[in-house]
Amino acid sequence: MLLFAMIWIACTNESKQTAKQPEQALEPHKDSSVACSKPTIIMDPNNAKPMALMMRQMVVNMDKMKAKLIAGERVSEKDFPFLRFYLVEPTDPNVLEPNFYENARLFQEAYKQIFETKGLQAKAYNVAISKCINCHQSYCSGPIKRIKKLVIN
Ligand code: HEC
Repeated sequence: MLLFAMIWIACTNESKQTAKQPEQALEPHKDSSVACSKPTIIMDPNNAKPMALMMRQMVVNMDKMKAKLIAGERVSEKDFPFLRFYLVEPTDPNVLEPNFYENARLFQEAYKQIFETKGLQAKAYNVAISKCINCHQSYCSGPIKRIKKLVIN
């Protein structure tokens, strides 16, 4: 039972979401959900793990960055420092494997490019967002729809 609960709490991909739980009906549809973890975590922000909180902060930051870029402003690293989410505790410790850190590295590299590029920042920004999505395809598919809204069209 505990094991089931832990699997369910974990930031699951679809293959894991088959665990039978009475509360499963409450689980938000993965397409409409911002979070990838269990509903109580969404509804009770105090229960969220540091990595989940940092991810939420990243969404807020990237939304602001998007607005500035659309307005034609340049963004700087001083205003948008990189959040080292890979150093803090996740809901599911199993995500902390080499492929996760590799995805984190690729995202961080793309993120730095936003500020270092000589070209269009909006373009570099979209590349960074695609790295969010890449990692989420492996570890946490729930928020992908939300992340896609960050793309600058
Ligand atoms: C290296 C992998 C990786 C990258 C890159 C990444 N994420 Fe995440 N994201 C995760 C994992 C793992 C979780 C689950 C965290 C937890 O539950 O503790 C998560 C959770 C989230 C959540 C749900 C937070 C909640 O409320 O529970 C959102 C939203 C999110 N990420 C958005 C983003 C955005 C936006 C980016 C890029 C700017 C991004 N992520 C980059 C792995 C990643």
